[in-house]
Amino acid sequence: MKQIVFLTGASAGIGEATAKMLVDAGAVVYGASRRAAQAYQNQQSGGEFVPVQLDVNDEIQLGRAVQRIVEERGCLNVVVANAGNGLAGSVEDASSEEVKYQFETNFFGVVKTIQACLPVFRSQGYGRVIAVSSVAAVIPIPYQAYYSSVKAALLMLMQALAIELKPFHIQCSTILPGDTKTAFTSARKYSVKAQQPDSPYYQQMKISVGKMEKDEQNGMPPEKISKAIVQQVYRKRMKAVVVPRIDYKLICLLGNWLPARLKIWMVSKIY
Ligand SMILES: NC(=O)c1ccc[n+]([C@@H]2O[C@H](COP(=O)([O-])OP(=O)(O)OC[C@H]3O[C@@H](n4cnc5c(N)ncnc54)[C@H](OP(=O)(O)O)[C@@H]3O)[C@@H](O)[C@H]2O)c1
Repeated sequence: MKQIVFLTGASAGIGEATAKMLVDAGAVVYGASRRAAQAYQNQQSGGEFVPVQLDVNDEIQLGRAVQRIVEERGCLNVVVANAGNGLAGSVEDASSEEVKYQFETNFFGVVKTIQACLPVFRSQGYGRVIAVSSVAAVIPIPYQAYYSSVKAALLMLMQALAIELKPFHIQCSTILPGDTKTAFTSARKYSVKAQQPDSPYYQQMKISVGKMEKDEQNGMPPEKISKAIVQQVYRKRMKAVVVPRIDYKLICLLGNWLPARLKIWMVSKIY
């Protein structure tokens, strides 16, 4: 059966690669982003990419997009809430506006995206919710504490949601990517105070975030994450949590298993 997918963050990185892979597999992907993306088709697979220009923080735009999909295709099989961004800087240096910024797209944007799709899924009696969190949900990342926090909140939200949606035959899966080479690094914002050399955190923040950014740019190709997402779209029962690549699986296993003091010590040695 042709999968009808609503995917956010489709103009770059993991989302763009996922859209291509899904279209090659024969899916119809409505790909959302603020920047306008190009429509395309795969004649062989019958797959299609339909760009949708919207901001995931706008419920009205999201509602219209979902309504359009149902009107044009008659159903919606999957939502992939992938759009996200990063904020760097110490906990102390971030203003409340900057903290809100980090939670806006990464948490409230995901919630709004999922909420726009759930009435359709419930009335159909089926549907799949996939959200892109991060290994940072399990491992505390210094100088990106708000990013770690929002991804942890998302991971917990998705697992609780899986329980609520079970009676409606709607499945949930959360993807936890590790370092991935995308435009995420260049799109990362720094809190204003964190960029000032008189911040007491400035030197260490520069060293730590510099290392993280280097790891991202030497990281996995986005296709590695896309493959894991596409597998969830097509498997009979989705996995609740997916961590692509064995080394990141082990890191998450340790993160969940080690006593907090040891985990904090280990991370402090790396960053
Ligand atoms: N790269 C990594 O190392 C890494 C690791 C772990 C998790 N992740 C997660 O993976 C997801 C995808 O990241 P990526 O690496 O592919 O980053 P990316 O290359 O920067 O892509 C981000 C995508 O999100 C879209 N987006 C951002 N804000 C949006 C908004 N308000 N409304 C609609 N679309 C929005 C962007 O499009 P527009 O700018 O056109 O709106 C873009 O298409 C994110 O949730 C990120 O946290 C990434």
